Amino acid sequence: MSNFVSVTRDGGVAVVIIDNPPVNALSFHVREPLMQALVSLRDEPDVAAIVIACAGRTFVAGADITEFGKPVQQPDLRAIIAVLETIAKPTVAAIHGTALGGGLELALGCHFRVADAGARLGLPEVKLGLLPGGGGTVRLPRLVGPLKALRMIVSGTPIDAAEALAAGLVDAVFDGDLAARAVRFASKMAGQDGPLAPVRDRNSRLDPADLPDFDRQAAELAKKARGLEAPIACAQSVRNAITLPFEAALAAERELFVKLVEGDQSRAQRHLFFAEREAAKVGAKDIVRRKIARVGVVGAGTMGGGIAMAFANGGFPVTVMETSREALERGLTTIDKNYAVSVSRGSLSEDAKQQRVGLFKGSTNYADLADCDLIVEAVFEEMAVKKEVFSRLDAVARPGAILATNTSYLDVNEIAASTSRPQDVVGMHFFSPANVMKLLEIVRAEKTAPDALATIAELARRIGKVPVVVGVCHGFVGNRMLSARGAESETLLLESATPQQIDRVFTDFGWPMGPFQMGDLAGLDIGWRNRKARGQTAVIADALCEQGHFGQKTGRGFYLYENGSRSPAPNPEVEALIRDKAADQGIAPRAIGAKEIIERTLYPMINEGAKILEEGIAARASDIDVVWVNGYGFPVGKGGPMFWAGLEGLDKIIGRLGHWHQRTGKDIFRVAPLLRQAAETGSWEGKSMA
Ligand code: 3HC
Ligand code: NAI
Repeated sequence: MSNFVSVTRDGGVAVVIIDNPPVNALSFHVREPLMQALVSLRDEPDVAAIVIACAGRTFVAGADITEFGKPVQQPDLRAIIAVLETIAKPTVAAIHGTALGGGLELALGCHFRVADAGARLGLPEVKLGLLPGGGGTVRLPRLVGPLKALRMIVSGTPIDAAEALAAGLVDAVFDGDLAARAVRFASKMAGQDGPLAPVRDRNSRLDPADLPDFDRQAAELAKKARGLEAPIACAQSVRNAITLPFEAALAAERELFVKLVEGDQSRAQRHLFFAEREAAKVGAKDIVRRKIARVGVVGAGTMGGGIAMAFANGGFPVTVMETSREALERGLTTIDKNYAVSVSRGSLSEDAKQQRVGLFKGSTNYADLADCDLIVEAVFEEMAVKKEVFSRLDAVARPGAILATNTSYLDVNEIAASTSRPQDVVGMHFFSPANVMKLLEIVRAEKTAPDALATIAELARRIGKVPVVVGVCHGFVGNRMLSARGAESETLLLESATPQQIDRVFTDFGWPMGPFQMGDLAGLDIGWRNRKARGQTAVIADALCEQGHFGQKTGRGFYLYENGSRSPAPNPEVEALIRDKAADQGIAPRAIGAKEIIERTLYPMINEGAKILEEGIAARASDIDVVWVNGYGFPVGKGGPMFWAGLEGLDKIIGRLGHWHQRTGKDIFRVAPLLRQAAETGSWEGKSMA
C-alpha cells in the first residue's frame, strides 16, 4: 500500500510493518499510510488482532527530528494514537532494536507491547530539549508508576527489555523470532474474553498519596537541570498525569511541548544531535577501514590509564607499556582501583570488572607492541620524548598499524616525521578522565592517510566517543579556544573580579563549573608548564604554582580544599595575592559586572573559533560546537559557542570585541575577517546559523 507501510496477514492477525530506514522515524510519509492502515484494519471484520512491527534494524526510534520547527503535517502522532485507542481488538507493538520517543509512544497506544530480549525502550526527548509530546508523559506513568516514569523521562535513558518487563512496560519478552511470537501473542489475546483496556484508562498506579515523594524527587532532579527548561517541563508533565484527568493532562503536555519545540534550547540541542552525527562522518563510505583488533597504549599515567580503560570498556584487548615495572604496576593498580569504584557504586558488576581487567596485558618492552593494530602514545608532553617513543614504535609496529599521539598541544606533523610512515600517524586527543569524557579530537596531520583517519573515526564511535577531525595547530580546536578564554580571566582578576565571581557568571550561564574551579580540578601545574614552555605568564596562576599550590591535588589553588574536600571554599590568600599583584601593576580596583565577564571571556572564544574556521583547522562551525559541548561542558541548551554566537548576535559581538580591542590592543579582541563575513551573510560557511 505504500513504500513505507505495508500490511501482511497471518490468519486473523494483521501485521502492519513500518519500513523507513535507517531508524523508522515517524516521518509524514510514514504517518499518512500508517493512519490509513489502522483505520481500515479497525473496521475489517476478518481481522481479529493487529501487530505493529518494523523492518530493518529497529522499531520506531522516534518522531522525525528534521520535521521539528516546521508546520505539522496531519495526521500527527497524537492523531494516530487516538485512532489506535479506538480499536476494539487487541493491538500489539512488536519491539526490536530501540523503541524511543514517539516510537515508544506509538507502542503505548497499543493494548500490549512485546519485545525482543535485546530491545531497549525509552523516552529520550529531554536530550533534544523536549518532552515526549505524543502522550508519553501521561501514558508511561500509568504502566510503570509515576516515580519510575519521572526518572525515565527526565534522564532520557532507555531501559532494557528485562527491566521493561519487570516494570510493567512490556507484557512479554521473546528471545528470537519476534515477528512470529508477536503474532502468536496477538492471536492468543484475541481469543481471550473480557474488555480490552487502553493504557489511557489504566489509572490504578496513579495515587495522589505519592505526590510528596514525587515532588521530592522532582525537586532533586530540577537541581541538576542547570538552567535547562526541558527536564523541569518533563517533571511537571508527569505530575499532571497524577493530578489531572487524562485529557487535560494530555492537553497540558501538548502545550508544554509546543513551547519547548519552538524555543532556543531545543533548537540548540537538535543542532547538536545532527552536528555530532555530521562530525562522525569521516572519509568516503567506500574507503576500506583498517582492522583494529588489539590496541597498545604507551604510558600508564593519568591519560594512558584512562585511554586503556576506554578501549577495554569497548571490548578491546589492550597492551599497556611503561618505562619501568614500578610505573607499570602503579598504572595497572590505578586502573583496577577505578574499576573497583564502579563496582562499589553499582555501575559495573564484579563479573564485568573481571572481564575488563582480563583484557589488559602489561609490558616494559616495545617488542610487545608488535601485534597491536593501533598504538596510542600518552607519555610526557615533551617533543623530544614523543619523538623518541615514535621512532621506537616505528621499529616494532607491524606494517599498517596506526600510530597515534595523545598530545594536547604539540605539532603532530613533527611527531609523524620522526617515523618512516607518517601516513600512519594521527593525533587522538582524549580528554580527562579519558574513560569518561566523550570527546575525541582526531588530529589530521599533513600526511595522515584517509583510511587511517576514517578507521579512527569509526573506532571512536565503537568505544562510545564523539569524534571530531581537527587540523594541526597549537592546542587544536578545544585548547586553542580555551587559551583565548583563559588569558582574559586572569586580567579580570587583576581588575578586581574574584575567582568565585567569575566562576559564578559561568555557572549561571550553564557551565558545570567556571574557569578557576576547572583549573583547580585539572591541576594548575599543567597550564604552568605549558606557559613556561612558550615563554608566557599568568600572574596569579604562576604565583600560586610557584608556592606549590596546584589546585585540588594539593588542597590549595584558586580555592581551598580542606581535609581532602572536593568542594571549593574561597581562598583569602588568593584575594590578597590579587590585590598585591594589581597594586604592583598600578591597576585600580573597579566593579566588574557579569556582562563584561561574558564579553571578555566568551566573545574572544568565538573570535578564535572564526579564525580556526578560516584556517581550515575545523571543517565546520558545528564541529567546534561538538568539541566544546563534549569536551569542556559548554551548556547544551546553548548549542556550543558558534551556535550561541548566532543567538547572541554577531553584530553585537563584533561591536564589543572592537570596543575591547580599542581599550586593550589585545590580539584576542581583533575581529576575525570570517566573523565579519558571517555577520554579513548570516552563515559561517554556507550553512545558516542559529
Ligand atoms: N529523526 C530523524 N533522523 C534520525 C532520527 C530521528 N528521530 N534518529 C536518527 N536519525 C538519523 C540520524 O541523523 C542518522 O542520519 P545520517 O546517517 O544521515 O547521519 C541516522 O538516522 C542514523 O542515526 P545514528 O547514527 O544515530 O544511528 P545509531 O545506530 O548510532 O543510533 C538511535 C540509532 C539510537 C536510534 C539514534 O539515532 C537515536 O538516539 N536517535 C534519536 C532518538 C530520539 O531522540 N527519539 C526521540 C525523537 S523526538 C520525539 O520522538 C518526539 C515525540 O515525543 C513527539
Ligand atoms: P602523566 O605524567 O600522568 O603520565 C605520563 C606517563 O608516561 C608516566 O606514567 C610515565 O612513566 C610514562 N612515560 C614517560 N615516558 C615514557 C616512555 N618513553 N615510554 C613509556 N612510558 C613513558 O601524564 P598525562 O597527564 O597522562 O599526560 C600524557 C599525555 O596526555 C601528554 O601528552 C598530555 O599533554 C596529554 N593529555 C593530558 C591531559 C590531562 O588532562 N592530563 C588531557 C589530554 C591530553
